[in-house]
Amino acid sequence: MELSASQIRRLILDEHTVLRDILEEIEQALGEMTRRVPGSISRVRASLRTFQDAFLRHLEHEETVLRPILVDVDAWGTVRVAAMDEEHAAQRAALTQLSHLALDENLDDTVRHLEEFIRRLRADMDGEEHHALSEEVLRDDIIVIDTFMG
Ligand SMILES: [Fe+2]
Ligand SMILES: [Fe+2]
Repeated sequence: MELSASQIRRLILDEHTVLRDILEEIEQALGEMTRRVPGSISRVRASLRTFQDAFLRHLEHEETVLRPILVDVDAWGTVRVAAMDEEHAAQRAALTQLSHLALDENLDDTVRHLEEFIRRLRADMDGEEHHALSEEVLRDDIIVIDTFMG
């Protein structure tokens, strides 16, 4: 199935919405952790795992669906794709680091670390939406031109 640029844009933006919702869940659980609410550590752990799975799927999605169109979009295509690759490498590294974090060792450190992680990811998604995922970049006429060129 061939997707248009705007369909791809919608798809990726919808995934961002889901990811932001999970980040909010993690934040809520972190708030409970700060207040030492019983069971909060396992809630943080569970929502982190949900996020990790969803985010890794999202990165793969961007690399298989978004990358091919992004590379051809304009003269900056290769630069945009290189920036995406670099960002994804850093995000995967952060996720791996996070999966080694002992959440219950020092609760305040855990909260600080995860809050920083969430802040970074939100900034990454905002940036991505303003650049690679903007309406001006992912225009449907790209596909039309591509079809004409055969
Ligand atoms: Fe990305
Ligand atoms: Fe993304």
